[in-house]
Amino acid sequence: MGKDRVLSGMRPTGLMHIGHFHGALKNWVALQAQHECFYFVADWHALTSHYDDPRVIERSTFDMVTDWLAAGLDPQQATIFLQSQMPQHAELTLLLGMITPLGWLERVPTYKEQQENLKEKDLTTYGFLGYPLMQAADILVYRAQHVPVGEDQVSHLEITREIARRFNHIYGREPGFEANAAAAVKKLGGKAGKRYEALRTSYQQDGVAEAVDEAKALLAAAGSLSAAERERLEAWITGARRTILPEPHALLTPTSKIIGLDGRKMSKSYGNAIDLREPPASVEKKVRRMPTDPARVHRHDPGNPERCPVWTLHQVYSSEKTREWVWQGCTSAGIGCLECKQPLIDAINAELAPMQARIAEIEAKPGYVHDVLASGCARARQVAEDTMRDVREAMGLAKP
Ligand code: TRP
Ligand code: SF4
Repeated sequence: MGKDRVLSGMRPTGLMHIGHFHGALKNWVALQAQHECFYFVADWHALTSHYDDPRVIERSTFDMVTDWLAAGLDPQQATIFLQSQMPQHAELTLLLGMITPLGWLERVPTYKEQQENLKEKDLTTYGFLGYPLMQAADILVYRAQHVPVGEDQVSHLEITREIARRFNHIYGREPGFEANAAAAVKKLGGKAGKRYEALRTSYQQDGVAEAVDEAKALLAAAGSLSAAERERLEAWITGARRTILPEPHALLTPTSKIIGLDGRKMSKSYGNAIDLREPPASVEKKVRRMPTDPARVHRHDPGNPERCPVWTLHQVYSSEKTREWVWQGCTSAGIGCLECKQPLIDAINAELAPMQARIAEIEAKPGYVHDVLASGCARARQVAEDTMRDVREAMGLAKP
């Protein structure tokens, strides 16, 4: 058996920050050795909400892939590619649109939420409503088993599973299945054929489970059938259909969420992020400016780390020993906040230094990222095309 296939994507809407690293990228890197991983730049997805920002998408695409590689993604192990170079995603989005009820899309929670959050943008577009459908196509076109995502994407995985189920239900039969099955019954011969029909009725109308076993034994004993015919009749008795698009599973990213500098979720749109490319002096400045427990107005006021965004960063970056020192020092007013922040500044800079060195190396090789994406696209295309052949055939699209 081959390795399980993993697929995930990220929207190129700005530079990668430490929230992306701890919330997703680190996990992508960990998965690449054990699984067949496909990671892509979701530039069409970025356009659904940032359609008036094309230059940002263009620039972010190459910077983002550079950051992925610097964070440890290995193009020898993982397939790294660009969504907009893959017409199969668009084709599958179109075809799945035929069977996706509008209500399914309208009730995805992120649809209303995002429209609320991004009030300054007009998101009453067809593309924005179709976002989860396009995401379903991204996943199903690779028949991926696992999709590493954060909590916020779970509803998109759910609709992906529903769409796959509906697709298999409607199209999971070979063309002419009924006629072929009837022909195979005839080939079984008068007596065996009649018995098969009786068993099929007894299973389908009365749910007699033993009828399936008896029919299988009967088919196994029948010398007149080819293997394909036998398989077809085994499937026909239960009404089973072919699984053309398997249902994927969410692989919830385990790491805790990195909190932004202002205590909200870290996000480039809130301007509260530390980028992977952040120079050390800027890391220092940003962390030193971070708000702390509001109760610590003066140096001698004790604080409560639970009410301090700096503490959430210590939980990701600091050893148990340092965390004990913080807890003790904070609650007893034994240390000041700037003192508390110093080990954090050092830890973040220590984590970023090798990545920034790799970014410089990659950027010194012009064309390198282009080449990584081009060969990733070529590899991804083979898998996607395999799926599309089955999908087109199942949906009655003739090959001239
Ligand atoms: N919607 C995802 C996000 O905003 C990005 C994405 C697009 C994706 N297509 C995907 C993630 C397919 C996983 C699988 O983060
Ligand atoms: Fe926050 Fe540290 Fe200050 Fe306590 S000492 S309030 S944990 S920054």
